[in-house]
Parts: sequence; structure tokens; C-alpha cells
Amino acid sequence: MSVVIRDAWTRPDGAARVATLFTETFGQEPDGIWSAPGRVNLIGEHTDYNGGLALPIALPHRTYAALRRRDDDQVRLISAQEESQRSVDLAEAGPVGTLGEVDGWPAYVVGVAWAMRQAGYPVAGFDIAIDSCVPYGAGLSSSAALSGSAGVGLTDLFGLDLDREQLVRFCIAAENQMAGAPTGGMDQSASLRCQPGYALLLDNRDHSVQQIHFDLAARDFRLLVIDTKAPHALVDGQYAARRQTCHEAAQQLGVEYLADITDLDEALARLTDPVAQSRVRHVVTEIARTRQVAELLQKDADLAEVGRLFTESHISLRDDYEVSCPELDCAVEEALRAGAVGARMTGGGFGGSAIALVPATTVGEVMDGVVQAFAARGFAAPEFLVVEASAPGGRDA
Ligand code: GLA
Repeated sequence: MSVVIRDAWTRPDGAARVATLFTETFGQEPDGIWSAPGRVNLIGEHTDYNGGLALPIALPHRTYAALRRRDDDQVRLISAQEESQRSVDLAEAGPVGTLGEVDGWPAYVVGVAWAMRQAGYPVAGFDIAIDSCVPYGAGLSSSAALSGSAGVGLTDLFGLDLDREQLVRFCIAAENQMAGAPTGGMDQSASLRCQPGYALLLDNRDHSVQQIHFDLAARDFRLLVIDTKAPHALVDGQYAARRQTCHEAAQQLGVEYLADITDLDEALARLTDPVAQSRVRHVVTEIARTRQVAELLQKDADLAEVGRLFTESHISLRDDYEVSCPELDCAVEEALRAGAVGARMTGGGFGGSAIALVPATTVGEVMDGVVQAFAARGFAAPEFLVVEASAPGGRDA
């Protein structure tokens, strides 16, 4: 059993690939190339739609977009990951469930342009080519990388005066309204607002952010991402069901968001449904853990403490929030056994990826251990990314 590591493309390489795809498809040069990263969340899971804190970093793995302006309202799209070209009339496009519904991945691109137009920005048609080294379906926000790359591209292409917070809102609208995935907004903020060398402490109540220094290499540690290859889908009902339970619990407790709870014991005593109690316990304790991790990182504290909180987060997601799966649990247990100081599932769950905080010298052992454990359990072979906090969406050429 061999270890497969998915390296990111360099930015010049990614830009060159997508430029070639554009020119071969549309027979003209693009006006420019832009890209945006996937993300991993260090901690603060299922807190975004509860008004709480999250702490993601941008991945070095990015989605690249080559764009050219058009004078009409047509959007022509090609992706290196798909066979055929697509075409959508921007004037006709509309949310999921309406006549203008856009099928599949183009919704994440057309949706951004649609949201910009809805808000009164002068966006017309465009040709766009996409290529990406963000693993797809791995819980690493390939969808936010897609909408983010289109978003930064459209902003420049049409000369829009937008700050990052506004652009994030348009990308969220694309995902929630056009693609119909009821996600909470952390991914789009991570892709567009993270900085290299920093984790983004995101307060999902007011969208304020704080950059938290995060340079593991300087401390001889690595962040290992384990793509379990277990399929996951956010458009399915489980995510929406968690969100709904949280919303109802907040209503019952008379707060706007679960993040407003100040006395957990008192809140739990007032909730009668044991499922709601578990969900609320996860959200409130997870927000506290996220705050603690941010404080520990700011103090350059012992990373073993940070790791302990990662592992507590996993247990809470597994037992109280019930969004883990056998592959994620196995990845976490094996990473810890092989020398990680902490590990947890990351992202929405039900498959996707886990992260492990690992001393640099132990990374090989952890990867070997996970590969062997997966083989012994009959799981698909996992893949690995060794990542550092990278740059947000921006222009490449
Ligand atoms: C997915 C969603 C995010 C967030 C996470 C869980 O990644 O897209 O909005 O809710 O799950 O933290």
C-alpha cells in the first residue's frame, strides 16, 4: 500500500493550464486569469450558521479561472474536469426551483454574476475556463474555490467597487440560492479573506475577522490533511437537518443564535429533546474551543494543547453532533496512535477529510499508519495533503 500525496500546482502552472484551456476552447486570449483556494477549517465546525466562531486557513490548492468579457448576456463555460462546454443566458438565470435554474457546477459561477446583478452591479456575459487542483468532494471547499475564482475575476473584469465582505456575500448567494446548498458561509470567507501564514478567526455573527499567526513549519510541525475518499454531499438532507435543529433550539431558548447562549447547563435544562441537547452542547463547547485555540496560537503556546482541543472537537462532532463516519473516525484514531498531537474531522462531515497536527518528523509514520489502517478495514485508499496557510483569491495574470 503506497502513500499518495496530492501536491498543489504552482500558481504560474495553474494559470498556464487554464489559459491554454480557454484559448483552445474559445479561440481567443482571455482578458485575465484569477484563482481562489480551497480551505481547511482548523476548528469551529458547524458554528457558522449558529453565529459562532470558526478558524479556517486557505489551502495552497486553488481553482483557476480564465475570463473574457462579452457584450451580450451569454455565459459560456468550460471546465477541464468536464467533457462538454456549457452555455447559460445570464438574463434568464435564476435560483434553484425556478425556471432559470442552472444545473450542476455552472451554478457556482453564474450564481455569482447573478447575485452581483441582483444587487445592481453592471455585470454582463463572459466566457470562462476553469481548472483546479482542489480535490473534489473531499470537504475542502472546491465549491467556494470555484465561486471565489469567478468572483474575483468578475470584480476585476467589470471594474466593480467591492470589498471582500461584499464579494463573500455574492459567493454565498450563489451557493445557497443558485446551487441550493444551505451552507453557512465559512468556506467563502476562508477562500477570499484568509492570508498566507495566518488562520482566519471568523466571527459569523457580524462577519468580522482577525488574522491569527499560524506558521507550523517554524515550530517543526505540519498540518496533514487526510482525504478519506468517503463520499460526502452537502446538498443532502443531513446538513439541512442539523441546521434546522439548531434554529429550532435557538427559538425555544429565545436567542437569535446558539452562539448567544451564556449558560450551557441552564440551556440544556430547558431543552427537553435529547437530540437538541446534544446538538446545542456541541455548538456551545465548539465555540469555546475555537476561542481557546485562537488564544493559544496567539500566545505561541504548546501545540499539544491545541491538538488536545482538536481531538475534543472531533469527539464532540462524532458523539454530540453525529456528523462523523467510520472512515473519519479511523483516520483520527490512527493519526493519534501514530504520533499526531491532535486530529479531527474538518468541514461538514459525513465523509470528506480529517486534519492532524503532527510533529514534522512523524508525518511519514502517520501517513503509513492511516494507509494501513484503511486497508485493514477495507476502506478506499486515502490521499494526503501537507498544507500551510496560503493566499486568498486574487489575480494571477
Ligand atoms: C460545510 C459548510 C460550512 C460549514 C461547515 C461545517 O463546509 O459549507 O458553511 O457549516 O460545513 O463547519
